[in-house]
Amino acid sequence: MPIAPVIQPASGFVPPSVAGPLGAQERFAAGNAFRRISVEDKRVINSKADVNQLVPFKYKWAWEKYLAACANHWMPQEINMSRDIGLWKDPAGLTDDERRVVKRNLGFFVTADSLAANNIVLGTYRHITAPECRQYLLRQAFEEAIHTHAYQYIVESLDLDAGEVFNAYNEIPSIREKDEFLIPFIDTLTDPTFRTGTPESDQKLLRSLMVFSCLMEGLFFYVGFVQILSLGRQNKMTGAAEQYMYILRDESMHCNFGIDLVNQIKLENPHLWTPQFRDEAQELFRRAVELEYRYAEDTMPRGVLGLNAPMFKEYLRFIANRRCQQIGLEALYPGASNPFPWMSEMIDLKKERNFFETRVIEYQTGGALSWD
Ligand SMILES: [Fe+2]
Ligand SMILES: [Fe+2]
Repeated sequence: MPIAPVIQPASGFVPPSVAGPLGAQERFAAGNAFRRISVEDKRVINSKADVNQLVPFKYKWAWEKYLAACANHWMPQEINMSRDIGLWKDPAGLTDDERRVVKRNLGFFVTADSLAANNIVLGTYRHITAPECRQYLLRQAFEEAIHTHAYQYIVESLDLDAGEVFNAYNEIPSIREKDEFLIPFIDTLTDPTFRTGTPESDQKLLRSLMVFSCLMEGLFFYVGFVQILSLGRQNKMTGAAEQYMYILRDESMHCNFGIDLVNQIKLENPHLWTPQFRDEAQELFRRAVELEYRYAEDTMPRGVLGLNAPMFKEYLRFIANRRCQQIGLEALYPGASNPFPWMSEMIDLKKERNFFETRVIEYQTGGALSWD
């Protein structure tokens, strides 16, 4: 008698029996897969429509971001690191404080992008039912792999102590505290038993998406980005800085995609956006600003590269205000201004518009980056 093969689910796989009413397999079993879908059937969460039918398009903003992300494709090894290697090996090439900035930076980022990938692949993707958004998430997941690759490539090029760098998220308190803040929100989405479909669980999803896009990709990366790009502006570590430029461009789009996702869920589920939810959200923003500021102090105990920690107090407040406004929360720090206007040019904040602010989205399509 033939024995049915037992297929062990990979980590994060949710069999239809526990996936809740939204599992694609379950819908197939229910016969819905044979019905042609219309745009009215599509919802970002809790959709009953077949998630395997990309068209007819409903969420064109997500599809456009997918196309733009593909147009921005790059690979770390395309960037020449020989000048960085020479500078790093030269005892007089960089100050101790500059070296600390580089090592702390890599210490945070080498694992942060892995956490981001887990969040997408094992969490977010399962709970989002708009195929256009899933398509973007697949691209984003690959970009997170490229970012981890880029950081590894820098660590290897400079011949840094990989054990020290890759364990920094366990060993350096200012890095560990940021990750400890994020991990419960990632765990919510990657928990195999978590499913959406009740106001409470939908709020949990919304909160995690907000933390991920506005506070991880939209805030926790920015002290590090400013520091490495400042090195590049002073003609130091230009290979690493060029990689960070490409990463910044990707992350800027990740952040804006996440914000569009949050706003679309709000639009389709206004009952989730309660006063209590908004108050809690603002508390999380405040806490994230504190943690990122602590990281700024730890990475810059003295002035370095014309930067110092107090400058970042203002900068983080400025960014937090912007993230709040992008998702419809009141600015937390009225009047905060940007002490690094050159960063806005690099991110090109004028172009960094999310769908709900304007439909005009201008992206670069690969090619040259400029330092001026
Ligand atoms: Fe990333
Ligand atoms: Fe990202």
